[in-house]
Amino acid sequence: MGVEGLRFVITGSGSGIGAATAKLAASKGAKVMVSDMNDDTGSAVVKEIRAAGGTAEYQHCDVTDVGQVQALMAAAAAAFGGIDVLHNNAGIHETGITDKVSLEDMPIEAFRKVVEINAVAPWVCSKYALPHLKASTNGSIINAASTGSWVGYPYNSAYGTSKGGIHLQTKNLAVDLAPFGIRVNCYSPTAIATEMVTNFVAVQPDPAAFEKALISTSLIPRLGQPVEVGELVCFLASPEAAFINGACIVIDGGSLAWRGTVDQIGM
Ligand SMILES: NC(=O)c1ccc[n+]([C@@H]2O[C@H](COP(=O)([O-])OP(=O)(O)OC[C@H]3O[C@@H](n4cnc5c(N)ncnc54)[C@H](O)[C@@H]3O)[C@@H](O)[C@H]2O)c1
Repeated sequence: MGVEGLRFVITGSGSGIGAATAKLAASKGAKVMVSDMNDDTGSAVVKEIRAAGGTAEYQHCDVTDVGQVQALMAAAAAAFGGIDVLHNNAGIHETGITDKVSLEDMPIEAFRKVVEINAVAPWVCSKYALPHLKASTNGSIINAASTGSWVGYPYNSAYGTSKGGIHLQTKNLAVDLAPFGIRVNCYSPTAIATEMVTNFVAVQPDPAAFEKALISTSLIPRLGQPVEVGELVCFLASPEAAFINGACIVIDGGSLAWRGTVDQIGM
């Protein structure tokens, strides 16, 4: 049980949560197709997995390029004989593209790009993984949502739009793919210690105060670790999660559970 023997495709797995999930899944016996736009980081993840005795291959893929997405699914199926799990992890925040993040200043193209990568591309990846997932006895799609799928944050309008969209895309595809026995779920992390969060914090008017505030709403007042999200992805992919479908699991240290800050409860 667990993810032993499952064949994963993980987009954007050269760094952050995707890389941590790839390494964790491989350490648990999964076969992992690592893919990214950045071939250096993606190949390094594969090297690390193989050095630890795991099974992984690498395929370049910009998820906004339909031809590259088709090639990714074909490469994974050829390497492993099929695909069981599509982890739509690749994502971007507007602060990774521009420091102009207010409604007045943000270039319209930056807004479109965030939505394209975070909400349109997972749909395209799901479309081309589908024939392979249909052939699996444990097919599932796992999408990266966010606490920003549920509530607003400062200077987060493009990201929030895209993550709200992927939350509902998950539920709609869960309905459409249920007849094929394919589960579709997503998960909502709060701030996880990756480059994306570092950039987001850096553009705030007072970065130090913002970082403190970010953590202060969490009942576990620290940043999450990428591998903690990886554990959730592995569980959602596993046969043990066979009754979980169309769900959006919050993984946020409790920050969405209430409306206070930890100083109010003596932390
Ligand atoms: N870090 C967090 O706090 C956090 C919180 C909630 C949700 N998420 C989501 O988790 C996912 C991973 O985030 P992360 O923090 O690990 O980010 P990250 O920036 O560390 O990694 C993102 C990866 O995606 C790749 N990527 C970007 N655009 C791509 C494209 N067009 N095609 C293919 N790959 C592309 C990058 O090269 C990078 O390797 C994202 O979808 C993000 O929105 C992250």
